[in-house]
Amino acid sequence: MARRKKLTKVVFGVLLGVLISQFSSREECKQPKPAPRVAPAAPAHNLVFVGVMTAARYLDSRAKAVYDTWGRRVPGKVMFFSSEDSYSEDVPLVALPGVDDTYPPQKKSFMMLKHMYDHYIDQYEWFLRADDDVYVRTDRLEELLRSIDSKKPWFIGQTGRGNTEEFGMLSLESDENFCMGGPGVIFSRETLKRMAPYVDECLANLYTTHEDVELGRCVRRFAGISCTWSYEMQVILYHNQSGQAAFSGDLKQKEVHRAITLHPVKQPQYMYRLDKYVKALKIQNYQQETIDLHRGIASAMAELGYRIDHLQEVSLVEGLRLFPEERGSEGYLGDTSLLGLPQSLTRQKPTTLDDVLDWEFISKSLYSYKDLNPRRRIGSSLKEGLGDVVRDIMELINSYSKQRGRVIDFKEILYGYWRLDPVHGVDLILDLLLVYRKYRGHKMTVQVRRHAYVQQTFTGISVREVKNFDFPHISQRPSSTQAVPVHRKIVNQIISTFEQIPPIFHSDNVTKKETINFILPLSGRHEIFKRFLKMYEEVCIKQSEETRLFVILYTEKVEDFNRSSVLIENIQRKYSSSGVSVVTVNETFTRARALEHGLKLLAHDDLTLFIDVDIVFDTKSLLRIRQNTVKDKSIYFPIVYSLYNPKLLNKSYPLDDYAFFNSAIVDEDNGFWRQFGFGIVSLYKSDYVTLGGLNLLISGWGSEDVTFYDEAIKSKLKIVRSVDPSLIHVYHSIDCDINLDVFQRNMCLGTQASMLGSLKQLQKLYKKYEYLFKNLGTW
Ligand SMILES: *[C@@H]1O[C@H](CO)[C@@H](O)[C@H](O)[C@H]1NC(C)=O
Ligand SMILES: *[C@@H]1O[C@H](CO)[C@@H](O)[C@H](O)[C@H]1NC(C)=O
Ligand SMILES: *[C@@H]1O[C@H](CO)[C@@H](O)[C@H](O)[C@H]1NC(C)=O
Ligand SMILES: *[C@@H]1O[C@H](CO)[C@@H](O)[C@H](O)[C@H]1NC(C)=O
Ligand SMILES: *[C@@H]1O[C@H](CO)[C@@H](O)[C@H](O)[C@H]1NC(C)=O
Repeated sequence: MARRKKLTKVVFGVLLGVLISQFSSREECKQPKPAPRVAPAAPAHNLVFVGVMTAARYLDSRAKAVYDTWGRRVPGKVMFFSSEDSYSEDVPLVALPGVDDTYPPQKKSFMMLKHMYDHYIDQYEWFLRADDDVYVRTDRLEELLRSIDSKKPWFIGQTGRGNTEEFGMLSLESDENFCMGGPGVIFSRETLKRMAPYVDECLANLYTTHEDVELGRCVRRFAGISCTWSYEMQVILYHNQSGQAAFSGDLKQKEVHRAITLHPVKQPQYMYRLDKYVKALKIQNYQQETIDLHRGIASAMAELGYRIDHLQEVSLVEGLRLFPEERGSEGYLGDTSLLGLPQSLTRQKPTTLDDVLDWEFISKSLYSYKDLNPRRRIGSSLKEGLGDVVRDIMELINSYSKQRGRVIDFKEILYGYWRLDPVHGVDLILDLLLVYRKYRGHKMTVQVRRHAYVQQTFTGISVREVKNFDFPHISQRPSSTQAVPVHRKIVNQIISTFEQIPPIFHSDNVTKKETINFILPLSGRHEIFKRFLKMYEEVCIKQSEETRLFVILYTEKVEDFNRSSVLIENIQRKYSSSGVSVVTVNETFTRARALEHGLKLLAHDDLTLFIDVDIVFDTKSLLRIRQNTVKDKSIYFPIVYSLYNPKLLNKSYPLDDYAFFNSAIVDEDNGFWRQFGFGIVSLYKSDYVTLGGLNLLISGWGSEDVTFYDEAIKSKLKIVRSVDPSLIHVYHSIDCDINLDVFQRNMCLGTQASMLGSLKQLQKLYKKYEYLFKNLGTW
């Protein structure tokens, strides 16, 4: 059951992946954006000097991680400061004479500031004292620094006055403070100029063992200023209390999104991870910006009377094309199909009743009439989606906080409505409970409610190629497609992208056709087996496919057993090399044990397919099996199309005619994709063995396939999970044995019910035969 939930998330995640959001919230629409700050123009390369305090033993771990990530992007210069005898080839290092790596690093800190003053005071406007466990979002740092007048003395940091235990022991007067060291301390040039000449005097007069407290004292004494008193600082210079565990978990948190510096990142691997996350946020912003700009171009061109879908041919003046790059080339930006629908309260105008999009209601649970289960838990995918939306709304609302001297915090979603439509996107109406805190003027804290109307528009589909998967029997692709930057890919339309990229798999050029070993457990079911064998004969034997079939034949149903045995003998006689063999098993049927019986006959390196007698396949399925299953690399779990009970559709199937099912119409009424079926698997025997095989202890109606899938996911192997429209599961009724244990029986009954018919069909039947249900009481 847990597996089911996870899968839904995967599917939904893909949808959200192509969403570009737009917001329109009542309050914010009326507010003008603050004018961009006019920056005093310092060239980017000498805005700030960053001194990172580190120690000899961290040079090739933390210091290297800093230099590999944000360090190189500083709008200015970064240097690392360590003890006298330190040496590094990885980072630009100053080994401070007369300084060792003892803690607290008071001398190191003061001598570092002195070094900055002696060598760089005239070259940089700002000086940042940083630790080797801090992460800095350098673009935001630049934005902040450029908004402040660096000619004045500034001492910027997260203000501290000592915690309760330390109270009174830091030798601070009641109005005195210091900037806490961890998340970073920023000096303007003027501040450093005033205090650095007195570093020796400060070092000679330490009151405590706290480096940052002493720094604050020195700055106050000689520069005459204290650490900035600003509510904002604890947000933008963010310190997390979790110590070693900080930033090792989920990074999708408002604290991470709002901050300029993040502290502490103790393990280098988390520094790299954080960096990737922050970069991904940036990419998202660029994508949004790209789309917005193109929406602008498109609407401007429309105003000028051009046809939107012909923009790629437009020249602004003779010889100057609007989009110089050709459609389909990497730099082409003219795809209007990526723009999505403009936001509007009436973007979807139903003309018939069927066009009306239905809303689902969100509160503690999710309510929808169209689901089999009308009241259900809010799935993790929707939860995450709502979280993203709320974070964006709050960012928008709070973008005016500084000017207004207030912050607004999110508390909860009281209720909401949402609807989703592939063409129009997502609509959300949310009633939010917020906390309004005014910290300037008349201070107050009140709870407020806000309605938010959110529209998320789908852009066109874009394709990204992930290149980390070596398929040995696939020929090398041309190098031109290898390193197309992601952002370029994103703006290329799916069609043109497909044109340039050769298919991942060369359908006709799998150099050596690997033999597929079918393992077919069979107990009873003779008539269906007859169909299966006929199909096998036509698709595999007659067409000389490289396959073998192992029928694991159970004796329990004697009559069927005899007749099936005869069929197999016949086919073995008919073809000198039929590749069909049989294993007779005289025990109670369990699927897992049956498969094991088959596997015993295979060699370590054999490719095997676990199949069921109800499945109909064709040559295309074989191709996909060979392509998607790679020894030591991947296991293929195809998603089969499962036909509903034909009786409910007032149909009947010619059960003996496999070719009829080969051409079955794949749609919503005839059947469904068995997202939660994991029984059909293709893999190498060696990988099966590595994974520890199937759980043989499960008897009766199996869940062994689900367990095995779980193991496969946890392993290093890749899972290839994809719908295969030529693997059809033909409907048959299932008996759920009354003797099964509760879990298995419920699972069996669930499967039975889900295979009956589409919800639409069931509803129709219910309406028709409503009177039959009248006397059933509550159920
Ligand atoms: C910050 O600390 C809190 C409480 O210790 C923790 O729950 C949270 O996950 C941490 N945040 C990050 C981004 O690590
Ligand atoms: C198939 O691959 C072989 C060698 O890998 C190559 O010589 C041949 O041209 C390929 N055929 C096609 C149709 O690509
Ligand atoms: C099955 O075949 C065996 C021998 O081949 C025979 O003895 C037995 O009677 C048959 N059973 C049925 C039910 O046909
Ligand atoms: C299966 O085993 C049972 C008892 O172990 C035996 O009576 C029966 O004849 C066997 N059936 C076949 C087909 O071998
Ligand atoms: C089922 O189909 C038959 C003929 O195809 C038709 O006569 C019959 O009315 C249909 N039954 C229902 C319930 O639609």
